[in-house]
Amino acid sequence: MIFESHAHYDDDAFDEDRESLLSSMKENGVETIVNVSASKKSLEKVKELMKSYPFIYGAFGLHPDEVGDMTDRLLEEIRLLCRQEKALAVGEIGLDYYWDKEHHSLQKKWFDAQAQLAREEKLPIIVHSREAAADTLDMVKGFRGGEIGGVIHCFSYAKEMAREYLNMGFYLGIGGVVTFKNAKKLKEVVEYAPLSSLLLETDCPYLAPVPYRGKRNNSIYLKYVAETIAQIKNVSYEEVVDTTRQNARKMFRLRD
Ligand code: NI
Repeated sequence: MIFESHAHYDDDAFDEDRESLLSSMKENGVETIVNVSASKKSLEKVKELMKSYPFIYGAFGLHPDEVGDMTDRLLEEIRLLCRQEKALAVGEIGLDYYWDKEHHSLQKKWFDAQAQLAREEKLPIIVHSREAAADTLDMVKGFRGGEIGGVIHCFSYAKEMAREYLNMGFYLGIGGVVTFKNAKKLKEVVEYAPLSSLLLETDCPYLAPVPYRGKRNNSIYLKYVAETIAQIKNVSYEEVVDTTRQNARKMFRLRD
């Protein structure tokens, strides 16, 4: 069954039907969901979701667009959230120069601090990096990210950059974008990277795959992502689902 490694069911986009949608995951082949926090507001919501659904796990951290809200005190609150039994990672954390909402120096300060927290708490990191390829790589190398481990979520860079992260033992998060016709660069990355280094993720409510492009995304649509990866790598659909599930369980340190 499908392991969804990156979702945001705390988002307002799911307010209308969150419960019925989440209750239908099992029957649609989705076994496990990691709900990732992004904003200060989302931290408590993710904690609640994790408590309410046995198959939902959590990741705790502030997204680079949201680090204006970060303080030393909030960082310690995040540390406590990370010590809950079902907290599997620190995230999503990183650099975003596309929306560029916070000064680069502030984004870097809290990316580094949250990565250190992950190291101390022995959790992997979920890295968000958008139009910040060089700085992200510099920082991940700088804080010896390979020792911490984790995933470059919604991987959007070229093959050469993928190689750098694969060499450090990172996983690459692959979502709906791989089904887009114009996603030549990402298809090349998927062809190049070993299946043992890929994770399935939606980033829902965003980035729905074809044939739902532009609509609200959800984890059930991961089957289209898995089908596309299977075609690109010339393996079966089942192999993609099984291997990415094993990868996720290994990265998030879940025992069978
Ligand atoms: Ni996300």
